[in-house]
This record gives sequence, C-alpha cells and structure tokens, in this order.
Amino acid sequence: MQITKLGTVPDENVWATNVLSKLQKKISAEMRRLSTDIPYIPVNGHYEDEGSKDITWWTNGFWAGMLWQLYHATGDKDYETYARFSEKRLDDAFTNFMGLDHDVGFMWLHTAVADYRLTKHERSLARGLHAANLLNGRYNPIGKFIKAWNPDESGDRNGWVIIDSMMNISLLYWARDVTNDPRYDYIARTHADTVMQNHVRADGSVNHICIFDPKTGELLETRGGQGYGVGSSWSRGQAWAIYGFALSYVHTHDQRYLDTAKRAAHYFLANIERNDYESLVDFRAPKDPIQIDTSAAAIAACGLLEIGKQVPDLERQLYVDSALKILKHLDENNADYNVATDGIITDGSVQYNQNGPKRDRIVYADYFFVEAILRILGKDFLIW
Ligand code: GLY
Repeated sequence: MQITKLGTVPDENVWATNVLSKLQKKISAEMRRLSTDIPYIPVNGHYEDEGSKDITWWTNGFWAGMLWQLYHATGDKDYETYARFSEKRLDDAFTNFMGLDHDVGFMWLHTAVADYRLTKHERSLARGLHAANLLNGRYNPIGKFIKAWNPDESGDRNGWVIIDSMMNISLLYWARDVTNDPRYDYIARTHADTVMQNHVRADGSVNHICIFDPKTGELLETRGGQGYGVGSSWSRGQAWAIYGFALSYVHTHDQRYLDTAKRAAHYFLANIERNDYESLVDFRAPKDPIQIDTSAAAIAACGLLEIGKQVPDLERQLYVDSALKILKHLDENNADYNVATDGIITDGSVQYNQNGPKRDRIVYADYFFVEAILRILGKDFLIW
C-alpha cells in the first residue's frame, strides 16, 4: 500500500515518525542551550558560537533552517522565535562585504527566505533580496558563471566556480518568483548550464572546482578541491550536484537539469551501494585510509527524494528506496539522540585533506537529515 506521493510504506512512516520524535527532543534541548548562538561543529560535546567567530561563515544559516523546518512541521512557535535570532544576527554579515561570497545562498535561504516563505515577514523579504543581489553581482557575463570565492594568497580567483554553487542559485529562483524580474532567472539558468557543461563528467561524477579565464570564459583547469585531488570525486560535491540539479529542474522544468541530477545520482548510488550505504569522503581516493562523510549521504538522500517526486511512477521507487537505505544507515550507525550532548549526525568530514579530527558532527549533516526525515513524512517545505 502506498501512503504518500513518495511511495513509502506504513513501516517506513512509523520509523520516520519515531526518528522525528527523537530529533525534536534533541533539537529542542540544543535550542535552549544555544539561545542566540549559531552552531557549527561541537567542541568536547558542546557547540560554540560560530557567529561571534565569523558571522559570514557559510554554514551560519543551517541551524535556523532546521528550526524553520520543525516550525513548519509542528507549528511550535518556539522554533520560529529561535530561528529569528540567527536571521537578525546575520544582518551584521551584510556589513562585511569582503567576507561574503556565493554562499550568501546557503546563509539567507535558511534564514530570511525561509522566514518569508512561511510568514511573509516584510523585513525578511528585504534581507533575502539583498542577498540575491549580492549573488547576482558575482555573475561573469562573459563566462556565464557566478564566481565562488574571493581573492586569497593564490590570486583574485575571479574565474573559480564550484559545484556547491548549484545549491546557492535557489536564492535567485526565489528572487525571480517574488520580483518577477527575469535577470535572476537568466543568471541562475546560464550559471547552471556552465556548471552542467564543465563540472559534470560524462559518467555522472563531478569536479569540485573549475577555473575559467574570467576575460574569455575558457576553461583553464579543474581541481579536486575538498576531495582527494584532480580527477577525483568528492562525495559532498556529488551530493550537491544531485540535489542542486534536481532543484534547478524544480524551478525551471528544464528536463536537462533533471537528467543531470539523475546521472549524478546513479554515479553516487553505484559507489555508496558497494559500501553498505556509507559514503566515503571521496569515491576515487586510495583505499587506505578509509575516510567517510555522513553529510554527503544526508544531502544525497534529500536530492534522491526530490528526484523521486519529479520522475514518473515507474522510476520513483529506485530513488525513494535508495534514500531510505541511506537514512536508515545513518539512523542506525551515525545518529546520537542523547539530549545532553550537541550534534546529531556523527562522522561528517569537512574535506579529504585536513589536519585534526576527520570525523565530526557538522551542523549541515543534521540539517539535511532533518529535512529528509520530514520529506519522507510529507512534512517538509522546500527551503531551496
Ligand atoms: N560548501 C562547502 C562545503 O560543502 O564544504
């Protein structure tokens, strides 16, 4: 018997309802400990305030996004109150122009835009549009891409484009919808086309970084970025491609984007299936040492569920079943529901090559796990 449009069965709903109840208890406890603080990675079991370390940090929206998802699912006003603390604090980020990059999408989609989508709060509309205009301002009309990062010791990085950007451009689709201004749509679509043509390889694997000549648009080189190296496949980048292209399809109905999302998904699934639904940090890294990244799995699950909503009935079950396997693996092996400690999903990894701890609880892994569980239950809203 099918009970949701995703085609899940009653047992799955019982399981997801049970997980949601544990998530709510844990997140409510974290919320009271955090007050106005913005979490990232817990230290010795407890979150510190990332907002006072760096208010422009790209992950500063995810906590609020989680609270808005729970507010939407439950109607509990406490979630709304606490979500707005992050949104208000992010106003300080607008005054630090040099600290902001293309990740204004991640930051404001989960704060102001989520608020506006759910409450039509006027100040949130202005904040969301401010962020969307910052993203439009990074567009290179010669190469038809949005530049990712700002200058660093390596140079100006005016031609650097990364796969993660496919999530940020949802901010532009939202701005298009609320203003009816086609510039946002044009920039989002032409950027998506550039990424589709250059980052996504024929086999569905993706480059993390493509570097273009900003004066001609010519592709100069690709880099492994947060993955193992040149030509490798960083799993979180794969997950950004699955979900990001699925989202571009949702917002444009351009079939090429859905086909690209499916290609990235099939590559991801071929790799994760042979590892018992646990995601390596990079699918093309040496066998030893084994490094895993649960955040990639959680993001991919959200993307697979979104693809499942967009494809015909005959295709749907592959995506939904695979997402369920990933989520159940996370629930059974990588979830800490103890309300006394911070962070839910264990064993996330920021990048392949890094000093220090390689298995962390990272706020975005929690966000995507929550979003996926709510999507199984038909209780999420599209924050992207
Ligand atoms: N967007 C940066 C990352 O995925 O780590």
